[in-house]
Parts: sequence; C-alpha cells; structure tokens
Amino acid sequence: MKLAGVHPSPEVNVPGKHAAVRQMFAEIAPNYDRLNHLLSGNIDRYWRWFTVRKTRDLLSQPNALALDLCCGTGDLAFALAKFAKVIACDFCHPMLVIGREKASRFPGREARFTEGDALMLPFADKAFDVVTISFGLRNLENIDGGLKEMLRVLKPGGRAAVLEFSQPVVPVFSSIAKFYMNRIVPRIGARVSGYGAAYHYLPASVRAFPGQRELSAMMQAEGFQRVRYHNLMGGAVALHLGERQSIE
Ligand SMILES: C[S@@+](CC[C@H](N)C(=O)[O-])C[C@H]1O[C@@H](n2cnc3c(N)ncnc32)[C@H](O)[C@@H]1O
Repeated sequence: MKLAGVHPSPEVNVPGKHAAVRQMFAEIAPNYDRLNHLLSGNIDRYWRWFTVRKTRDLLSQPNALALDLCCGTGDLAFALAKFAKVIACDFCHPMLVIGREKASRFPGREARFTEGDALMLPFADKAFDVVTISFGLRNLENIDGGLKEMLRVLKPGGRAAVLEFSQPVVPVFSSIAKFYMNRIVPRIGARVSGYGAAYHYLPASVRAFPGQRELSAMMQAEGFQRVRYHNLMGGAVALHLGERQSIE
C-alpha cells in the first residue's frame, strides 16, 4: 500500500532523518492538535499537566525561565507559562505559526515561539531553570545529542523533563496498548490527516525508542543527576526527570 506523505526513518540515530521529520510535521501541522486529542482521548492534557506538576517547584521561583523543546503547536509551553516565562522552540515553521495563533487563547501566559534545532540550540549555556521536551526526543536524529543540549542550557540545579511514549509494564494493558498503537492509530491518523505515512511512522518510532530503564541510563550517561521516571497509562507513556548538578 502506498502511503501519502514523506517517510522518515523511525529508527533512532539515523543520519539525515532531520529533513524528512521536519517535512512530515509541516504536512500534518494543520490537523496535529485535533488528532492528538482524538487519538489520546484527551488524556494528553493530563500528561502535560503532570509534567508541569513535576517541575512546578522550579517554575514558581521568582524570574524562572523555562524552555519547551520540540514545542510543536505549544500545548505544553502554554501549560508551563501559567507559572513561568517560557521559550517554545521547534524547527518546523508551520507548527510554530499555529502555536503563535493559539496564544490569544491563553491571555497573560508568556510563551515566546522561536525557530531552532534541538540538536544545535540557539541559547547560551546555563540559561534555563526547566527544560522540557514532550513527544519530541523520539524524533531527533540523535537522542544523545538532544540530551546533551538539554543539559548544556540548564542552569545548575535546573531540571529536564522528557515526556515520551514508552514500554507498557502491565501485561494485559500492554497488548491492548500495542494493538491500539499499531493498528488503530495508523488508520485514524491516515483518514483524518490524509498523510498515512506520518501515522505509520508514529508506532514504528515508538517501537524503536528506548524503554524506561534504557532512557534513564542514557540520561545518566550524559551527566543528569537524580534521574527518575513516572509511568503514565501503565507505562505506555513515561515522564523522565533529571537534574543538572547544582554545584559544579
Ligand atoms: C510529536 S511533535 C510534539 C509536539 C509537542 N511537544 C506536543 O507535545 O504536542 C514533535 C515535534 O518535534 C519537532 N522536532 C523534531 N525534531 C526536531 C529538532 N531536531 N529540533 C526542533 N524540533 C524538532 C517537530 O517539528 C514537531 O513539532
């Protein structure tokens, strides 16, 4: 079957994946929010709220500054901006345009949308109290490189939060989650967006992405401290947290 749209490699650490990923997100940008909420049954709102809750102690400090990487259309950035100033960064222009248009729905929340590559961030070292990335790390050409950049721009004592699809840990739930992700998501995604390739890429990239323990080990290897994770939806999604050492 020929699927409409670009076909990035779903495997991790594939050189050259970058351009195809950016084009894929540009193609699906107009339907991205609608499909996100539809495919997750709106639970994605809870995952983002949970991410804010786990970083809120730092966000609530005076003059706190947060960076939301791979921000897409900005849902996590707007949630963070309830508590702190936020820079929302993505390399896909059409996603950022939609994010900027949504700003009027969140009066008083300061989220500045900036075009930039998560592997080569246009920000100084030690600039942010909190750095988040939701459903973005899996899409990077190089996961270690993305984690390295997150650590570089964090202030000492700052926290990184990685929200991403992961490996379900409850056996019965695992079969249901896999069936849904591998069979249902591609069908609904293709029908609603018209770009079947993107919604075949999604489950394939989730299969290729490291599980909870492996990702924790990768964060530790890059130098993050106090690495821990929370399973959400039985581990189908996980939030990993790690800190930059406060005294260096
Ligand atoms: C699945 S979307 C997630 C969007 C948003 N964070 C959310 O939770 O809905 C992945 C986003 O990552 C962005 N992205 C992928 N690779 C990137 C990179 N190297 N630099 C910046 N953004 C990137 C894409 O453009 C896309 O907007």
